[in-house]
Amino acid sequence: MTETLFSLKAMTVAAALALATGSATAADGVEIDHLGVNNTLVRVTGPGRYLIMPVQESNDDARINVLVDGKIAETIYVRLAKSKTDYTVPFDLTPYQGRNVILDVVTPQGRSSVREAKDDVCWRGMELTDTIDTTDREERYRPAYHHTPVYGWMNDPNGMFYRDGKWHLYYQYNPYGSKWQNMTWGHSVSDDLINWEHLPVAIRPDGLGAIFSGSCVIDHEGTAGQGRDAVIALYTSAGTSQIQSMAASRDGGMTFDKWAANPVLTLESEARDPNMFRNESTGEWNLVLAHALDHEMLIFTSPDLKTWTLQSAFGKGEGAQGGVWECPDLFELAVDGTGDKKWVLLCNLNPGGPFGGSATQYFIGDFDGKTFRSDTDADGRIPTKWLDYGKDHYATVSFSDTPDGRRTVLGWMSNWQYAAEVPTMQYRSANTLPREMGLFTAPDGELYVSSAPSPELLALRGKVTAKAAKANVGRNARTYALPADGLCEITLDIDAQKASAVTLELANKAGDKVTMTYDAESRTMSFDRRESGVTDFSEEFPAVTVSPTFERDGRVSLRLFVDRSSIELFGNDGRFAMTNLVFPHAPYSTLSISARGGNARISDLKIYSIKL
Ligand code: FRU
Repeated sequence: MTETLFSLKAMTVAAALALATGSATAADGVEIDHLGVNNTLVRVTGPGRYLIMPVQESNDDARINVLVDGKIAETIYVRLAKSKTDYTVPFDLTPYQGRNVILDVVTPQGRSSVREAKDDVCWRGMELTDTIDTTDREERYRPAYHHTPVYGWMNDPNGMFYRDGKWHLYYQYNPYGSKWQNMTWGHSVSDDLINWEHLPVAIRPDGLGAIFSGSCVIDHEGTAGQGRDAVIALYTSAGTSQIQSMAASRDGGMTFDKWAANPVLTLESEARDPNMFRNESTGEWNLVLAHALDHEMLIFTSPDLKTWTLQSAFGKGEGAQGGVWECPDLFELAVDGTGDKKWVLLCNLNPGGPFGGSATQYFIGDFDGKTFRSDTDADGRIPTKWLDYGKDHYATVSFSDTPDGRRTVLGWMSNWQYAAEVPTMQYRSANTLPREMGLFTAPDGELYVSSAPSPELLALRGKVTAKAAKANVGRNARTYALPADGLCEITLDIDAQKASAVTLELANKAGDKVTMTYDAESRTMSFDRRESGVTDFSEEFPAVTVSPTFERDGRVSLRLFVDRSSIELFGNDGRFAMTNLVFPHAPYSTLSISARGGNARISDLKIYSIKL
């Protein structure tokens, strides 16, 4: 009796509301009740795998509590469209099939009446479907051979490991829009580090918070109690504070179960991006954690990946201090041409990079399983060293469990200064090409880390579309055509000889150009993208970046990878690297080479089309 009364009452209230507001037009199987100027219920009443949600990028986020049988199952933030739809994102209903699903939406806009709220275009566009339309809409900048998410925002690479011939890449991912939000671990897998298969999201937010960056290891001996060969992930749960949590996968990294007793590690101040590895010399697990605002990396040990003991901290006052320290990695490398080995601590920081915004610095030194000690230079100081001298190379970390002792890394090919503003829409951000880390001694007697293109990238080489075995270049440029689609790898040896500078220019008929100049006097290579195409989305974007070339003989051997919206320049087998985004109005169509101050000699120039 009470129940009937209650539902009668509820019906009356609903009817009264419907009268007051009028019923909104919605697609089949979706019912929409406007409850006030900024609160709306979206009821899923029909069948369908996805609820499609229209997004308008310039809007603020609406907060959506997903109610499943009356309980909050998750909370997501979506820039629901108000006056126009830029693109749509799917909300996956599969986990909730057969249950009562209601989206309780609180929109951010201040409105004077419910009538106004009802006019938002998102309500009409919410529909149920069984498939997602992932075709790019005018996404001419989507890379042809770099990893990108199919849709949505991506930042840091996370938890990368190699197993049974497959390279697993997880990444900071927003499945509900192309700006940073709703951090989950997206997942892709590759046989060759070039072609990536997109897999379902691997780790979703929970009551402890969003899923920030972290790492994975294969626990061969089952030390974490999750079985032998379980893939163990450690990530930052970012709720009110940042704490570290664990998840285990028993199906090779496809799905993860969070540890019921999470978090595994808490501190009294902001710390994130746990990076762990098996230390073969001590037989223990090591963990490096970014003590973000303190500009230091904390080093822990553990026998079982769950109980972590703080051993030391490195970084206060050392190297570039910048804004926050993030995404550490620590690994041992052989020194080129010697029997020596050294430890390298990667330390991503933002801002404070050499050309503004985010960048990856590193320290070289010794590590005894507990403490990292950085080498000093001839003056007894710890030098600041950068892994890449472009603007778009961040959050670089390495794959775990790689074959043949390789140390393979991927970066996020963007910069926090403008990552959310770049002129793409359905997706935002790509990874860098994979690189192999090495150590070399430069002419100044110092050790540096090299980043050479991974050997797998040779498979991208298609036809040689232009070449020159040997040529002298002077003031008048020699010009070579690029493949029609603009996608290419260019290899070239420069011997400056009498020239003071040698310039390579990529250009198109729209007047866009990128100039890369080797300066034989300062022994540097510069990269100027100020007129590279669309640059006005951020005043931080037009820039000239400069790298030391680490040679003394005026010879540089270059490999240049040109994709639709990026150029990666590698010099002298990765002794220097520069990664920069570019958004040309049309693909670059020519390469021109000229020299100043005298003639230079170029040799072994080859322009390869890209085999996709
Ligand atoms: C680095 C970073 C990490 C954090 C993640 C959040 O780009 O700020 O420190 O875990 O992004 O998405």
